[in-house]
Formats: sequence, structure tokens, C-alpha cells
Amino acid sequence: MTAKILDGKVMSAELKAEIARKTEELKKRGVTPGLAVILVGNDPASEIYVRNKGNGCEETGMLSRTIRMDGDTTQEALEAEIDRLNADSAIHGILVQLPLPKHLDEQAALARILPEKDVDGFHLINAGRLMTGNPGVTACTPKGALYMIKSTGVDLTGKEAVVIGRSNIVGKPMAMLLLQENCTVTICHSRTQNLAEHTRRADILVAAVGKAGFVTADMVKDGAIVIDVGINRVDGKVRGDVDFDAVKEKASWITPVPGGVGRMTIAMLLANTLEAAERTLSRD
Ligand code: GUN
Repeated sequence: MTAKILDGKVMSAELKAEIARKTEELKKRGVTPGLAVILVGNDPASEIYVRNKGNGCEETGMLSRTIRMDGDTTQEALEAEIDRLNADSAIHGILVQLPLPKHLDEQAALARILPEKDVDGFHLINAGRLMTGNPGVTACTPKGALYMIKSTGVDLTGKEAVVIGRSNIVGKPMAMLLLQENCTVTICHSRTQNLAEHTRRADILVAAVGKAGFVTADMVKDGAIVIDVGINRVDGKVRGDVDFDAVKEKASWITPVPGGVGRMTIAMLLANTLEAAERTLSRD
């Protein structure tokens, strides 16, 4: 079997067009969705992500504000900036770009963001809402990955889903979303024994490992949907966690890297920002 490609470029362009249309409608009602991104230090990968987020806002007609803080910023200064943005009615979404420099307390910073402005879905309240099946803001990368999985039209109920990776940003929320879709979910990680025995059972396999080419064809079930969340830089090129060329001969659907899940992350961030702005109107 040769897999069909889940094209993040096409899907995210469609989503962004829809978001731009809804943003225009909201502006007519007097609200311009606004996203603030806080970048502490000058990590080169973070610089690229932050630039892409700003570009996404521009494409969809949203207000974008990037707050750059020195690498030696104190926790107090960071939280004071978050407080300012929490109180700013022009800002509907606040994102603190991760990772933060080591001396800063990431969890405390994320907890400082008002849950309704937490467009990353990383606040404990939003993580808890996802866990308990209550409406809240869902983390962008798993939300985008689920969108791609659902776009296949495959009925997910009762399917075996295996997620490799247990981060708060991807692995855990991804598992929760698949559970909500009635999949039987297994979370694997760096200490998992006999990993391939798990992955070979997967009808849906999500790789969020952070190692280029980690998922090889022998680890994949025939006809599986394979979602590659990895963004690894190898010899100046971006590669995913999946050995794409080999695995595409076994899977039914596969996401490429680049041009896959990464594109969807930004689209979902914009969607979360739009929804946060829409909520301010329904509260009035
Ligand atoms: N760093 C890598 N991915 C992300 C993300 O989705 N959100 C934030 N805030 N930082 C990240």
C-alpha cells in the first residue's frame, strides 16, 4: 500500500481562509482578535516559530504583538508582563514561547496567564478541562493532528491509537483527544519496553519523539494512519520522527515533514485566538 498524504499546507490554508473570513466578521462587530507572544532570549528555533505566528496573524487580519525579553529576565519581570497582557482588552490570546531559559519557572509562568487567554491550552485549568471532557482551550499541535486524522474520514471508534511521547504539549493532550474519539489509547515513551510490539498494533500512530527517522517501517501496521509531530534539524534540513519514504509504503495515510502537522499548529493557534476573541463578545 502507498499512503495518501495528509497535506498540512493545503489543510492549513483552507483553515486560515475560514479564520480570516470569521476575523473580518468579528472586526465588523468591533473586535479585532489580538495575539501576544512573549519570547524570552534568542533561541534560533523559537525565533522562527514566533515569526511564523506573527505571519499567521497578518495573513488572517489579526493583531499580533511580539514582546521580546532579555535572556536574563527575572521571573518577576516575566510575570509582570503576563499580568499587563491579562489586563489588556486588545489582547485575547497570550503565548509564552517555550522553552524558557533554565532559570525561569515555566509552570509558574503558564499558570499566570488567564485561562481564557491561554491560547496554547497549557494552563492547568485547560489541561484539566481536557482531561475531564469539559469545554476549554485545547493545545494547538494535538488539536491540529486530530483535525488531520479526522480528515481521513476513518471511523475512530474502537481503533487502537498509539502515541509515542508523553509531553504536556503533545503526547498527553493527544492521548486525551483520541480517547474522547473512543480510541483505545496507549502512551509509549522513552522507558517503554518492546516499543515496536505496541506500535505494530496501532491503527493510528502518532510520533512525538524528537528523533529523526525514529519510526521505521517494521514498527508500523499495514494500513495505519501515521502522524509525524517531529521537527528535527539534520544537516540543515528539517526531518520528522518517521522514516517517511519507507513508512509511506505501509501506511494508508501519512503526514510529511515539513508541510504536515507544523502548519496545523499555527492554524489552530489562530483558531484558538479567534475563539477567545469571540468569547469576549458572548460574555458582554
Ligand atoms: N515551543 C514549541 N512548541 C510550542 C508551542 O506549541 N507553544 C509554545 N508556547 N511554545 C512552544
